[in-house]
Amino acid sequence: MANAADSLTYNDKVVRQFLAAAVFWGIVGMGVGLLAAAQLAWPALNFDIPWLTYSRIRPLHTNGVIFAFGGSALMASCYYVVQRTCHTRLFSDKLATFTFWGWQAVLVSAVITLPLGITQSKEYAELEWPIDLLIAVVWVAFGWNFFGTLAKRRIRHIYVANWYYGAFIIAVGLLHIVNNIAIPVSMGKSYIVYSGAVDAMVQWWYGHNAVAFFLTAGFLAMMYYFVPRQADRPLWSYRFSIVNFWALISVYMWAGSHHLLYTALPDWVQSVGMIFSLILLMPSWGSAANGLMTYNGAWYKLKTDPITRFMVMALVFYAAATFEGSMMAIKSVNAISHYTDWTIAHVHSGALGWVAMITIGSLYSMAPRVLGQEAMYSTRAINVHFWMHVGGTIMYVFAMWTAGVTEGVMWRETLPSGSLAYSFMDSLRAVHPMYIIRAAAGLMIVSGMCVMAWNMWRTWEPVRARGVEPIAIPQGA
Ligand code: HEM
Ligand code: HEM
Repeated sequence: MANAADSLTYNDKVVRQFLAAAVFWGIVGMGVGLLAAAQLAWPALNFDIPWLTYSRIRPLHTNGVIFAFGGSALMASCYYVVQRTCHTRLFSDKLATFTFWGWQAVLVSAVITLPLGITQSKEYAELEWPIDLLIAVVWVAFGWNFFGTLAKRRIRHIYVANWYYGAFIIAVGLLHIVNNIAIPVSMGKSYIVYSGAVDAMVQWWYGHNAVAFFLTAGFLAMMYYFVPRQADRPLWSYRFSIVNFWALISVYMWAGSHHLLYTALPDWVQSVGMIFSLILLMPSWGSAANGLMTYNGAWYKLKTDPITRFMVMALVFYAAATFEGSMMAIKSVNAISHYTDWTIAHVHSGALGWVAMITIGSLYSMAPRVLGQEAMYSTRAINVHFWMHVGGTIMYVFAMWTAGVTEGVMWRETLPSGSLAYSFMDSLRAVHPMYIIRAAAGLMIVSGMCVMAWNMWRTWEPVRARGVEPIAIPQGA
């Protein structure tokens, strides 16, 4: 338990730990993404080593970027934000320490088991049952600490960011448990209890809502706290943020079947997914507009502050990716985009454009504050990182759009005789240059992350010698 002096200050140790982990896993996760991209361009890069094969590297990348990089950043920001918006120290320091080491244990287990080919073969839920159990325990501890802190808050009002963090924690816990109900047959193998079309539906209810509540709600929470902070202005419309919250969480749950259009799922279920995806555009653009309008009166910061650039660009990508997603959910559009690299373009305009940029911006904004520094060591380095990241993201997304539309159109082209005009190899040859461009884009992005790590290290350096000044909890709230 915290001693008396501790109880007057925030627990920023756990925030610093998660922050360092986020930067570290960012480099690892995106580095593995770069390897996967390079293997798609030059397949010999698996060196005929089983644990380097594409099928094992790909889930390592998705787990690395979503759960290791994204998850650590979400936990860092959540612990940071909930203390400051509730004017109180975390409910339990011990639980905080447990969530940090427990989550890192999950991630290290993933790094070991996935390359060994130990997997449930469910996308974004590959990890086998012993690790799933650990995830459930760590998640409950995280939720306990978050809601316990909310319960002992010293101001009545619950700031909107905490609504989003709360929804993220509850929904992800529920999704994880329901989707992973399995019968273990050994320590490294289990069979999911669902089968056939039901399995597909549960999997995509999970997969889609992992996007909704992990990759969207959690990062919107970050956005709702750090954008007003960085703009130094109140949120454009607080009421609008609450309306968008309820609209987003009530609509997202019904849209998952857009991942299973033209499958054995009943047709009406597919149509429900399509319609809810179209409605989803409204709360998505609502939040993007709210964030962007918060910069009204502070647009000059785009010139002077690279952190602002990260945040504004993240919101622009959020609006773009959600618009694209709603369009791709229309059955006739999906008929062209599905199975092609268009999906990969959409994923990465969401992931690199929205998720990574709002995370990077928020980490830069938070780091000096938890390190007791005025600012990051080098603003120029942040600027360099911004241009590397945004340049790489645009290259990545445009290359994959081009590849996706090329594939979609080539695969549908028929001769007067009715047979296909192109073989799969023809389309692969056509998109090969795009794969090379994507690998180059990945190299730029990973290099940008290394610049970030260097900048964080230099900001941390003077602090390591003298220790961090504890930040007092504001009084009289
Ligand atoms: C250096 C940056 C990155 C590179 C080079 C990269 C590369 C790749 C590659 C090559 C694939 C496989 C594509 C395929 O199977 O055709 C992929 C898939 C994926 N990546 Fe990334 N990626 C990067 C960053 C990220 C980030 C930051 C995130 C999330 C926050 C992310 C999330 C995903 C997801 C969810 C998939 C699976 C998509 C699907 O199944 O449709 N990636 N990435
Ligand atoms: C209004 C919001 C959105 C809608 C309606 C939407 C819709 C869609 C659709 C229709 C697909 C293609 C399914 C297929 O053909 O297989 C898709 C795939 C995907 N989207 Fe979105 N999207 C939205 C926002 C986002 C955001 C913000 C992200 C954040 C990263 C994201 C991440 C993904 C991922 C990872 C996939 C690939 C899933 C897989 O096949 O593995 N989406 N989305």
